[in-house]
Amino acid sequence: MRQCILDSSELLSCYEHLLREVVCPYLKAKLNEEDPLETGQNSMVFYCQYPPTLRLQPGPSSRPRRQHRDAEFGHQDGEVNFWMPLTDYDRTHTTLWVESMPNANDFHPLILDVGRIAMFHGTLVRHYVPPNPTSFLRVSIDFRVGIGRYFDPKWTLEGLQHYHGRHKIIL
Ligand SMILES: [Fe+2]
Repeated sequence: MRQCILDSSELLSCYEHLLREVVCPYLKAKLNEEDPLETGQNSMVFYCQYPPTLRLQPGPSSRPRRQHRDAEFGHQDGEVNFWMPLTDYDRTHTTLWVESMPNANDFHPLILDVGRIAMFHGTLVRHYVPPNPTSFLRVSIDFRVGIGRYFDPKWTLEGLQHYHGRHKIIL
């Protein structure tokens, strides 16, 4: 699947455009507003996962995507998750469930129209996907963005083999 994405130049250029025109400017504006150490900074660095991850969840099935936090897979505190459905919840009747704070245990479904993106701190907050009970395939794309001085591109979790590639975007 990863190779499929890497071979799809149209999808990758669309993704790059999304990062440069929407996601990173949004994060920069938010940091400018809320982080006194970043206010007034001319440029900020964003470490964007490359390529994004494509998820396919066929149904009908009784298999969930188990509850986890991404710290278990080598992700660090200084990155945030973006999640974008490519299929309609009304068809698949399943979606990503996320808690609001680490260990809050108040899981809620992300029910978004196609074209909208959710942001959450998946390194620390737990998330999972219930089984797809329908015969419609659920499809979504997700990626993470490491933020400036909060993210260490050289950081590794001991014993973990696979790390996502990153594209550095400076805005
Ligand atoms: Fe995850």
